[in-house]
Order: sequence, then C-alpha cells, then structure tokens
Amino acid sequence: MRILITGSKGQLGSELKVLSNYYPEHLFFHTDKEELDITSKEAIVKFVNKNKIKVIINCAAYTAVDRAESEKELADRINHLAVKNLAELAKEKTVKLIHISTDYVFDGKGYKPYPVGHPTSPVNTYGITKLAGEKAMQLVQPSNSIIIRTSWVYSSYGNNFVKTMMRLGEDRNKLNVICDQIGVPTYARDLADFILQKAVYVENNKVGLYHFTNEGVCSWYDFAKEIMGQAELKCKVCPIPATAYPSPAIRPYYSLMDKVDINKEFNYTIPYWKESLKECIEKLTFNLH
Ligand SMILES: NC(=O)c1ccc[n+]([C@@H]2O[C@H](COP(=O)([O-])OP(=O)(O)OC[C@H]3O[C@@H](n4cnc5c(N)ncnc54)[C@H](OP(=O)(O)O)[C@@H]3O)[C@@H](O)[C@H]2O)c1
Repeated sequence: MRILITGSKGQLGSELKVLSNYYPEHLFFHTDKEELDITSKEAIVKFVNKNKIKVIINCAAYTAVDRAESEKELADRINHLAVKNLAELAKEKTVKLIHISTDYVFDGKGYKPYPVGHPTSPVNTYGITKLAGEKAMQLVQPSNSIIIRTSWVYSSYGNNFVKTMMRLGEDRNKLNVICDQIGVPTYARDLADFILQKAVYVENNKVGLYHFTNEGVCSWYDFAKEIMGQAELKCKVCPIPATAYPSPAIRPYYSLMDKVDINKEFNYTIPYWKESLKECIEKLTFNLH
C-alpha cells in the first residue's frame, strides 16, 4: 500500500518511521509540516493525487495543551478543520484515514474506564478542538477509516514527561509531581506497532472509534516514581495535588479508557505500561532507537 504519514517528526510519527522499515510491502511517504501542511487542503489533495496515496495516517496535531488556551484558532485549524479536509478527501478518493485523538475529549469526572460511546465533554481547548476533529470525521464518514484515542504519549523521540523527568532527575534531589490525576501512559512505539500491524487493514462501513493506551493505571506521581526507579536516579519524588500546580489549561482528573474493543476485535495484546517504559528508558539510556 502507498501510505502517507503526516506529522512524522512528532513522537508517533517518528516511531512509525522507524517501524516502517520492517514493512517493505508498503511504500511510505513521511511528511511533516515543512513538506506537507495539513491545514492546506490544496497541498494535501495535490500530494495524495501525485503519489497515489491509499492510506493516510494522520499524526499531525496541535499538542501544546497549555498554549492552546491562547492559540485557540490555530489549534482548531490543525485539530479540527484540517481533519475535516482530510476526511473529505479520503471519502472522495476512497483513501483510508487513520486519525489519532485523545482522552482529553472526556471531562475526567468518571470513576471507571470510559467505553468508546461514553459522553464526551472536554474541559480545555485542546480537547475541544480534538473532539471537533473526531466529529467532523464521523460526519464525513470516509470508508474503512478509524479514530484511535490515546493518552499520556511518550517516546524516545520528541519532548515528553519521561524525558523531562529523566533530565530533572539528573539535576535535582527532589521533585513535586501531581498525584491526583489518574491515567495510563502510552509508549508511542506500541501504538505505532498496532497501527502498522492492524489498523492499516481495517475494513468498515462506519468510521471505527477505538481506545489504545498501554495496560495498567497510574498517577503522574506513580509514573515519575517508576521513571526514577527504572532510570536509577536518586531524585526523591513528592506527591502534590493538581491545585498546587496551576496551569493555563484545566486537565481531567480521571483519564482511563476502556480498550476491550482493541483486544477483542483486533486480537491484539497491548503491553503493560511499566514494561513498555522499560524499553523506552533503555533506548534513552543507551542512546538506541
Ligand atoms: N502527546 C500526548 O500526550 C498525546 C495524548 C493523547 C493524544 N495524542 C494525540 O496523538 C497524536 C500524536 O501525538 P504526538 O505526541 O506524536 O504529537 P507531537 O509529538 O506533537 O507531533 C505532532 C507533529 O505534527 C506536526 N504538525 C503540527 N502542525 C502541523 C501541520 N499543520 N501540518 C503538518 N504537521 C503538523 C508537529 O510539528 P511542530 O512540532 O513543528 O508543530 C509535530 O511534528 C496527535 O493526534 C495527538 O493529539 C497525544
């Protein structure tokens, strides 16, 4: 298949680039905004036509959650309007669209993992724009396409919580980390593996909606403690409530998403978060990719 990957310099896009080497049966086109800006419908149409693209994996997004509060229009253009354009193009050209969304479509007031059909109610601009992207894609209904919601993404590429904790853990004796926001970290390599092994072959009449995160559950505090332990850093991690760490964007307290459909429909076993974290920390420690 001829597969276009957008946002390929981001965390997920970078992991897909590495894994794509193991799929010689496909021809991959890795692009980021310098080569292909997803907000330009004209550029996307031209690229898809010229390269006879059959699958688009949309990893491009506006992901700066706090900054989005002051850049609402830009966040909406990338996370919503561009997705609408991609979906319209996919429908018109019978191209499969694999789009990534977020746990931030929920308000975080739940107490058990959200099933895919659970009512959405985002509490910040990033979540609002990502939900608008989902809805636009569902309205257009490109065939054989899916939306995959994920959470707390990290990778040996890009900037993320794991890399920040490892850096701060080297420099400091003590760190305060939020202990009352609960979710699941997702190693971008695992999501990339699922996409290339399973999602690119999806067939459906209605846009599929799935949740993919690693297995397990933790708070940011637990996550930080585990990072320090696995990376053998001496830094002490102290729990603080989210109220002690004000930020421009409100974040949901509870972010767990039910993954039963991924396990059942795709016959795919998702790794436990601590095992995937180990793999990533080893890569970072020994500078492997
Ligand atoms: N990171 C998380 O914790 C998290 C959690 C839940 C869901 N997700 C979702 O998972 C997906 C992948 O996230 P990620 O962590 O890999 O994101 P990322 O590392 O921020 O990568 C996104 C990439 O898209 C690029 N991009 C931005 N605007 C673009 C445009 N107009 N055209 C083309 N490319 C553009 C970015 O470039 P610049 O960096 O130069 O802007 C960046 O390289 C996204 O849909 C995100 O919403 C992420």
